[in-house]
Amino acid sequence: MKIDIIEEGKPIVLYCRGKKWLLKVEDREFHTHFGVVNLGDLIGKPYGCYVETSSGERIYVLKPLLVDFIEKLPRKTQIIYPKDLGLILVYADISSGSRVVEAGTGSGALTSLLAMHVKPNGVVYSYEKRREFLEIAKRNLANMGLDKYVRLCERDVVEEGFDVKDVDTVILDLDRPWDMVSHVYEVLKPSRPFIVFVPTFNQLEKMWKAISEHGGFIDFKVFEQILREIKVEVGATRPYTRGIMFTGYVIFCRKVLNHQD
Ligand SMILES: C[S@@+](CC[C@H](N)C(=O)[O-])C[C@H]1O[C@@H](n2cnc3c(N)ncnc32)[C@H](O)[C@@H]1O
Repeated sequence: MKIDIIEEGKPIVLYCRGKKWLLKVEDREFHTHFGVVNLGDLIGKPYGCYVETSSGERIYVLKPLLVDFIEKLPRKTQIIYPKDLGLILVYADISSGSRVVEAGTGSGALTSLLAMHVKPNGVVYSYEKRREFLEIAKRNLANMGLDKYVRLCERDVVEEGFDVKDVDTVILDLDRPWDMVSHVYEVLKPSRPFIVFVPTFNQLEKMWKAISEHGGFIDFKVFEQILREIKVEVGATRPYTRGIMFTGYVIFCRKVLNHQD
């Protein structure tokens, strides 16, 4: 069994009694209400081990999963949450080597998931009109080690469209996706998925109208993903009463050709 060893400068998750912290390993003390840990002492230990805090509590040291990064992502925009990311990924039908277009980048949560799945041979072309958000996404992707699979581009895609062709999937999470239908049709390979995330019914209806009027897409479906985390307690197991109740709708359709070949 190959065991990963904790190195200086690498990210870790500390876990204690349901609480998690995403940190970088460096030679400093980290204070929690469970006591103090010296992060430098972790260097050379295997991921998955535990250390005792100054108060004698066990803190486990984990190698971050992508979902740990996404949950703790520094952000200035709303992100797509894990519950919707999973559904998007299945319908996006991407794998290593895929070429995917995404807009807007926002904080890069969706971008990171796409990059994780197109690597090492594919690329995510991610477009964002606001430079300050691109900078945040760039840092987030670098922290996750996924930046090399993403080409970030500062561009208003409603105004200018995309600068790539023949991509496998297009995914939009921006204000006016109904203004993007022709741009998407131009760059997407026939038969491939076009996915849109919208937070309201009004946007959903506008999107449906734009897709119907365009005529170049079929198999239109819309999903709302309802996910409940369960609190397990002997004799009292039930869903948590708090959590993220609503995020938005995932729209799916596929490009078709309007001529016979
Ligand atoms: C909700 S955020 C996207 C969040 C992202 N999906 C994530 O998971 O982190 C929407 C982003 O779309 C960008 N945006 C809106 N209209 C745009 C346009 N016309 N061209 C490029 N980006 C746009 C906004 O600046 C914003 O950063």
